[in-house]
Amino acid sequence: MTLLEVKHVRRSFGGLVAVNGVSFSVNPGRIKAVIGPNGAGKTTLFNIISGLLKADAGQVTFKDRSITGFKPYQIARAGISRTFQNPSLFFQMSVLENVMVGRHRRSGREFAACCLRLPGQPKEERSIREAALAQLDYVGLAHLAGFPAGGLSFGQRRMVELARALATDPELLLLDEPASGLNTREKENLGALIRRIRDRGVTVLLVEHDMTLVMDLSDDILVLHNGTIIAEGSPVTIQSDPKVISTYLGGEFRPPEEVELALLTGERPDTAPGARVVPTRSSPVGEGAVR
Ligand SMILES: Nc1ncnc2c1ncn2[C@@H]1O[C@H](COP(=O)(O)OP(=O)(O)OP(=O)(O)O)[C@@H](O)[C@H]1O
Ligand SMILES: [Mg+2]
Repeated sequence: MTLLEVKHVRRSFGGLVAVNGVSFSVNPGRIKAVIGPNGAGKTTLFNIISGLLKADAGQVTFKDRSITGFKPYQIARAGISRTFQNPSLFFQMSVLENVMVGRHRRSGREFAACCLRLPGQPKEERSIREAALAQLDYVGLAHLAGFPAGGLSFGQRRMVELARALATDPELLLLDEPASGLNTREKENLGALIRRIRDRGVTVLLVEHDMTLVMDLSDDILVLHNGTIIAEGSPVTIQSDPKVISTYLGGEFRPPEEVELALLTGERPDTAPGARVVPTRSSPVGEGAVR
């Protein structure tokens, strides 16, 4: 059975075709990664699936029902939740309140009414609070529930955003570069957490540049390049796919670190004149990219 089906989806910005007739499906209970160099169209694809952007053409089907053209809240209610490349929390609110936003999206109760303590249903408010706290506990941050979100480290913000996405009880979770900005230990914890999320029955679609994490976690990988899918398959298949190798590596055998670097930058390390290692927009300092 297919959980998500994306068919012939296309989206352009002015003259630039960011997503060019992309079709793929996601089976339930899997972790599927979407990889590709900066500008490949990964986030645009996520924006279309989650309803933030309208596709120019194509269809998105979730659980055999078309969600094409649905608004973000309708898509969230249908069972798809997401995190963003740049975590977007309400810094003035507490960590717990930030997670409660996700739960409110699911319950349909007016969040502002609850925040302002307007007359309503205190019982439902209590259950939303408890459910949000459970998600915070799940990502290991229950002890920070009462803290202002603005005081958190970058890695903690990512975890709160993940807890907020989980608070909608999604069947499909879209994660856009969840490891970006995390240190090695945080990345290891994230990998274990994503696996636990999958094991509890949530299907995961993951955009990520960290190839160690991708190869380690994913059941399936989709390679996007200039808005088109150039390869799809298991991690082993992708690493040895002739099209991936010839597009990124000039058709020669390379060690895995070079495959990772080339997949990240979209450039061939030895052919970039005066190549040097600098951080990319979406990569933290230390994770270099050839420019
Ligand atoms: N709102 C927008 N308006 C104009 N152009 C856009 C917009 N969003 C994305 N693009 C362009 O579409 C292309 C694909 O962008 P997208 O953000 O989807 O890439 P990406 O694969 O997520 O890259 P990265 O790995 O850097 O996050 C890029 O050339 C980008 O500049
Ligand atoms: Mg992106």
